Amino acid sequence: MDLSNRTVFIVGGTSGIGRELARRFAAAGSTVAVGGRSAEALLELSHEGIGTFGIDVTDGASVAHARDAVLVRYPELDTVVTMPGVMLLEDLRDPAHFEAAQTTIGTNLVGTIRVVDAFTPHLVQRGAGTTIPWLFAGLNPARPIQSQYIYLKLRRLGLGGLAGRNTARLAMAADVPASILAALTGTSIDNATDWTNFAKRDWTGYISSRRSDS
Ligand SMILES: NC(=O)c1ccc[n+]([C@@H]2O[C@H](COP(=O)([O-])OP(=O)(O)OC[C@H]3O[C@@H](n4cnc5c(N)ncnc54)[C@H](OP(=O)(O)O)[C@@H]3O)[C@@H](O)[C@H]2O)c1
Repeated sequence: MDLSNRTVFIVGGTSGIGRELARRFAAAGSTVAVGGRSAEALLELSHEGIGTFGIDVTDGASVAHARDAVLVRYPELDTVVTMPGVMLLEDLRDPAHFEAAQTTIGTNLVGTIRVVDAFTPHLVQRGAGTTIPWLFAGLNPARPIQSQYIYLKLRRLGLGGLAGRNTARLAMAADVPASILAALTGTSIDNATDWTNFAKRDWTGYISSRRSDS
C-alpha cells in the first residue's frame, strides 16, 4: 500500500501499532489524523503536526460526532484505519469476567464495525477510497488476520464458527448448482453434490433462469 499520498484517519492511533502507523504515513508525506480517547496522547500527537480527534468507539454518538468533524476538516479523506482495541485479562472462574468480555467485544469487534459503518458512505461516494478488503486486519494491516487466529479468538469467546459455516454453505447449496458451490467454497464436487442433495435443491431452474438472463 502506498503510504505517501493519502489523507488518512487512524482510529486507535494514540498508541501502539496505530500511532506508529500514523507516524509512518506522516513521514511518507500523507495527511494524517488520529482518533482515540486519551487527551494527553492526542495533544502529544498534535504537536507532531497530526490532526487529532476525540472518539470512543463504544459510543455511537461519539463515533458520528468524530466522523462529522473529520470530514469537515478533511473532505478529501480517502483512507480509514481501525485500530481500537483493548486486551483485558479475564479470570473465567470469576463471574465478573463477563463485564470485561463485553468491553472487549464492544470495543474490538462492535467498535470496529461502528467505525467502518460511519465512514463507508463517504468512501463509497468518493469512489477512490482505500478500503482494506477485510474486516479483521492482521498484525500487519496490509494482511488479514490469520483464519486460525481469529477462529481461536472467537472460540475463546464462545463463538464456534462451524455451525455458522454450515448454515451459510447450506443456504448457498440451495441457491446454486453443486459445480458452482464447489468452485466458490473450494470444496470437492462430491462434497458439494452431497450438500446440494442435502438442501434438496432442483437446480434445473438455475439453468433456465440463466438462459432467460442472456
Ligand atoms: N500488539 C499485538 O501483538 C496485536 C496482535 C494482534 C492484534 N492486535 C490488535 O491490534 C490493535 C492495536 O493493538 P496495539 O498493540 O497497538 O494496542 P494499544 O497500544 O493498546 O492501542 C490500542 C488503541 O485503541 C484505542 N482504544 C481503545 N479503546 C478505545 C475506545 N473505546 N475508543 C477509541 N479508541 C480506543 C487506544 O486509544 P485510547 O486509549 O486513547 O482510546 C489505542 O490507541 C488492537 O485491536 C489489538 O487487539 C494487536
